[in-house]
Amino acid sequence: MRVLASAPAKIILFGEHSVVYGKPAIAAAIDLRTYVWASFNEKKAIKIEAKDIKVPGLTVSFSENEIYFESDYGRAAEVLSYVRQAIELVKEEADREDRGITVSITSQIPVGAGLGSSAAVAVATIGAVSRLLGLELTPSEVGKLGHKVELLVQGASSGIDPTVSAVGGFLYYQKGSFEELPVLELPIVVGYTGTSGSTKELVSKVRRNLEEMPDIMEPIISSMGKVVERAREIILSDYDRDIKFKLLGKLMNINHGLLDAIGVSTKSLSDLVYASREAGAIGAKITGAGGGGCMYALAPSKQSEVATAIKIGGGMPLITKISREGVRIEDIT
Ligand code: MEV
Repeated sequence: MRVLASAPAKIILFGEHSVVYGKPAIAAAIDLRTYVWASFNEKKAIKIEAKDIKVPGLTVSFSENEIYFESDYGRAAEVLSYVRQAIELVKEEADREDRGITVSITSQIPVGAGLGSSAAVAVATIGAVSRLLGLELTPSEVGKLGHKVELLVQGASSGIDPTVSAVGGFLYYQKGSFEELPVLELPIVVGYTGTSGSTKELVSKVRRNLEEMPDIMEPIISSMGKVVERAREIILSDYDRDIKFKLLGKLMNINHGLLDAIGVSTKSLSDLVYASREAGAIGAKITGAGGGGCMYALAPSKQSEVATAIKIGGGMPLITKISREGVRIEDIT
């Protein structure tokens, strides 16, 4: 038996980092996916074939606490630790520690871009392996296991990335609970700097800054939470679309400034943010952990101008759509 599951990437619209401190955040799943095939193997080993995870292809085996790398690509190895942890957690959940599992991964999501590639690979792995082992998990339960994987690998995580990847759509998230918001078709452009940041390191950096200057940092984190509350009110309001976009754009710009203040922006991210605004975006900000990775711009009727500005500014524009669907079983053979 073989099971194929997939899970989407995400963008955080508002509230990255402050969400780690219990504030709310709003995120949306987008239409880039990671695909994971899961099957049994005769040995007790966990075998992971990373066919295309947007870093050079490689095969890694974990057996009896030994790790065999055919090649050691740091970033890929980081992704694979999420996969291994996800498989072990599901085996434990199903009480089938005895089974050997092989997974094979392909992904459309650039690794380390702040688009939730690690969460998507963990969620798709949990989806495929749980079905293989006969567990019937709801998307929300898959998201909860994905959060456990992140906590084990990263040490700290709010759980927003695995939740939105598992559930899909547009979510308002706080402390492990979420509310599905009506899907607002946002005319956005995502700009990828081409460099990657480590979520684990950036979350630690913010924690260090917070510990060093709590009197200054706490009000910033608290303002980020207020930005999210305001954004939720606007999304749920009866305002017409143009007014909603205008207000949300303003909040995006404020949120970007606050993210810069806590130390997670880079010159290339800010260059793309300013280039997008100059090309007509109503709002632009970092999305995800920062330190490289991606920004996004809200650009009603200016998407192609903003995409060009991002390209000229040295970034890679991606015009994406919101994905209503989270984790899904694609095939069972
Ligand atoms: C990363 O996509 C979002 C962060 O807020 C980390 C987290 O929520 O776990 C930076």
